[in-house]
Amino acid sequence: MNPDKSSTQPRILAIETSCDETALSYLVGLEAKSHHIHSQASLHAEHGGVIPNLAKREHAKNLVPILSLVFKDIFGNEIQQASGDNNNIDGATISIVETELSRAEGLFNSLLSYIRLISHQDFLKIKDSIDAIAVTYGPGLEPALWVGISFAKALAAIFDKPLFPINHMEGHIASVIAESVESEQKNEISKTKIEFPAVSLLISGGHTELVLATSWHEYTILGHTVDDAVGEAYDKVARILGLPYPGGPEISKLAQLAQSQTDTEKIFALPRPMIHTNDLNFSFSGLKTAVLYAVRDRLKENNATDLTQEEKIALASEFESAVIEVLISKTKKALLENGAHSLIIGGGVIANTAIRKAFETLTTNELDIPLYLPEKNLSTDNATMIGIVAILQYINGKTGLMPATLEFENLKAEGNLKL
Ligand code: KG4
Ligand code: ZN
Repeated sequence: MNPDKSSTQPRILAIETSCDETALSYLVGLEAKSHHIHSQASLHAEHGGVIPNLAKREHAKNLVPILSLVFKDIFGNEIQQASGDNNNIDGATISIVETELSRAEGLFNSLLSYIRLISHQDFLKIKDSIDAIAVTYGPGLEPALWVGISFAKALAAIFDKPLFPINHMEGHIASVIAESVESEQKNEISKTKIEFPAVSLLISGGHTELVLATSWHEYTILGHTVDDAVGEAYDKVARILGLPYPGGPEISKLAQLAQSQTDTEKIFALPRPMIHTNDLNFSFSGLKTAVLYAVRDRLKENNATDLTQEEKIALASEFESAVIEVLISKTKKALLENGAHSLIIGGGVIANTAIRKAFETLTTNELDIPLYLPEKNLSTDNATMIGIVAILQYINGKTGLMPATLEFENLKAEGNLKL
């Protein structure tokens, strides 16, 4: 597949490394022509959560191999291998790249050797197929963000392209208008016509926020969690039940088993934290503690050392019901109070089938407003959503940061970046 040269759509190479996924995508307009994610989840699983420096090391190791996969997707096997010594990078660029990558173990050498192996003709072809580079610069784990930013700066310098620093949470919002390579429904232009003002619910491992979007790029935070994020609660409850990280999919699978069980006796009753408060904030830490106590009490009562499978299913189901009731109640309040014309939901937790269904029912049967959800593979962290935000900015006339400018040099990871 060759990128369409006559296309007037912006062509973006996007990079995401804010947590434990190393992801690169190449977009032409809203369509991802190439979309790759390498998850480190199994590596971090033995530690029960993400270790920032391990994440950074893994990103550094995997970025060049993933970049080569992206170029293969774009150009097939057409890229010629050169002898290794060519004119792709001049001395001045090498020193920028070396400075950027000096602290990212091995990344300078692997990137330089990879770029040098591309024939000069193909190097120019690649250069001609990219309008800008996009990268997540926050929020997230700083060592992990930092390696992605350095890599993006190195590529921007090598190909002499502008760099778009992107907010990861804006990426989750914009993920609903992406068209991934796996997508069956291409070019749904209607999806880009989001009805503003929109309320956006962001539910991930690090965030739980209700945001009012009056247009793309204009956001006001309406409410947020005062302690743990929803995904974090899923992960912690999974750990209590002896299930691996990330816990969301595990709890969700258990809870689904409850739906098919005929025995409806309710073994556990958990609280719905802050459901009746007058604000749009959430709290999930108390819910996790309630699960801990429920397990302890049940074991004591039955003089047991572990929950039975039936008890685990009942607990997962009750936990998920509590989460859903709170999310629905607060989101409904936010929609009504702000006269929102649509609801957008983004973040890893919206991969959850029961949560998706509950919001479909709310928006269709009760409120009669459009609901925008990302495709399931774009719910958790990916680079396509980062590219989409860059595309929206590009179309809006933003120019990005040019290599060798002060702004470019000063770009840093912002672990606590807000919308
Ligand atoms: O957005 P994301 O990939 O990373 C962050 O930016 O945090 O979200 C990851 C979170 C994890 O906490 C994971 O347990 C949760 O999303 N998650 C789920 C499901 N799939 C992933 N939670 C509930 N149900 C799921 N099916
Ligand atoms: Zn995320």
